[in-house]
Amino acid sequence: MSSELIHRNQTRDQTTDSSSHRDNPLPRTRTNIINMLLNRVPFLLIGIAISTFFFHYLPSRSTLPQHHDSSSFVGTELTLPTRRVLLEEHGRDERKRRVPLAVGLKSKRQKRVLVTGGAGFVGSHLVDRLIERGDNVIVIDNYFTGRKENVVHHIGNPNFELIRHDVVEPILLEVDQIYHLACPASPVHYKFNPTNVVGTLNMLGLAKRVGARFLLTSTSEVYGDPLQHPQAETYWGNVNPIGVRSCYDEGKRVAETLAMDYHRGAGIEVRIARIFNTYGPRMCIDDGRVVSNFVAQALRKDPLTVYGDGKQTRSFQFVSDLVEGLMRLMEGEHVGPFNLGNPGEFTMLELAQVVQETIDPNAKIEFRANTEDDPHKRKPDISKAKELLGWQPSVSLREGLPLMVADFKQRLFGDGDKGAAAA
Ligand SMILES: NC(=O)c1ccc[n+]([C@@H]2O[C@H](COP(=O)([O-])OP(=O)(O)OC[C@H]3O[C@@H](n4cnc5c(N)ncnc54)[C@H](O)[C@@H]3O)[C@@H](O)[C@H]2O)c1
Repeated sequence: MSSELIHRNQTRDQTTDSSSHRDNPLPRTRTNIINMLLNRVPFLLIGIAISTFFFHYLPSRSTLPQHHDSSSFVGTELTLPTRRVLLEEHGRDERKRRVPLAVGLKSKRQKRVLVTGGAGFVGSHLVDRLIERGDNVIVIDNYFTGRKENVVHHIGNPNFELIRHDVVEPILLEVDQIYHLACPASPVHYKFNPTNVVGTLNMLGLAKRVGARFLLTSTSEVYGDPLQHPQAETYWGNVNPIGVRSCYDEGKRVAETLAMDYHRGAGIEVRIARIFNTYGPRMCIDDGRVVSNFVAQALRKDPLTVYGDGKQTRSFQFVSDLVEGLMRLMEGEHVGPFNLGNPGEFTMLELAQVVQETIDPNAKIEFRANTEDDPHKRKPDISKAKELLGWQPSVSLREGLPLMVADFKQRLFGDGDKGAAAA
């Protein structure tokens, strides 16, 4: 454009003032050029300044993705969607690709923890411990088997958020750790709502997206009706893939597979806990799990129903021991799987006797036909958790049962809302 103007000016000069050109053409042209250059000096300087900015400042940022080192862009001012894309595309080493702290958090040491199923029995006790530790906790739960009452005592605490959400639908939350518990855990419920596979897939997707560490609460049911006793983590199990309990047993096995695939394939930090029978306050009262069944029956003066001959064995872990194990697993460096359970082994009849001793010595026992695919034996080998997590249960059945009984009494006969406080 400027050259065109110069050309036009020159042409006009040549046609309109040809006499002066003839007299002294050179000095006029030189003056024009000098004037023109002087007029453009400020623009030249601005251009140099802009190019200096681009070539010296911006390259230090734009090279980040090529180096696959996302840690260095974590603290920068990029917008969230941009950061997420960079995290997904370039952050293979997820330890370095945490999303930046939200503005509302108190300090860098405060962890953002998501607990799916946090309004349930185990989840709510875990939430208590995390809040006590000073973490920023988000619970998502669809209340299928959980209750708001289990976490109501945290409402109003700025470190606590409760979201009604079904994990079969994706959700985006920026967190550092995900404890994935959402899943109906008793036969009465899981037959109607098998959420293991889709829910786990969604939460693994979230972990991948935001670079969070992911802990799966799997189950001793992955061992099925075990042919090895006690069960070590190396045992692959004996599970009926098409039985009435399969949606739970096989669902958790698939969940473990998905977790390991995300770990190997996408570099997600995963932790796998295989939980054995756990009991304690806030358990669902009528969900068909054996300890809650016996306690509720004895309190209501109903006979204790024993399925089969009552010689099948289980081990019973108090909930505070489990929560300690889960937190150690999450904070430690080992993927697992880890058996978390109490190795004390009881037959169903022995358990019924402990319940009689604790609640009502006159409680009757009633035998019923056994349920399909009910495992004959169940006892964890916890050597691996002892050695690598420094964990072992400390609460015996005779110590833990009275704590649960007090909570059940209050919920059955007292003010139900206050039951949540008992722990
Ligand atoms: N308690 C045990 O003895 C035991 C043993 C082995 C494994 N586990 C596992 O531990 C976890 C917690 O078990 P629990 O005993 O606390 O059971 P729970 O039923 O009390 O808790 C499960 C929670 O998940 C919620 N939930 C279920 N489906 C959901 C969904 N689709 N979306 C969102 N929330 C959903 C429920 O409402 C409930 O609050 C489960 O994954 C279970 O499989 C428990």
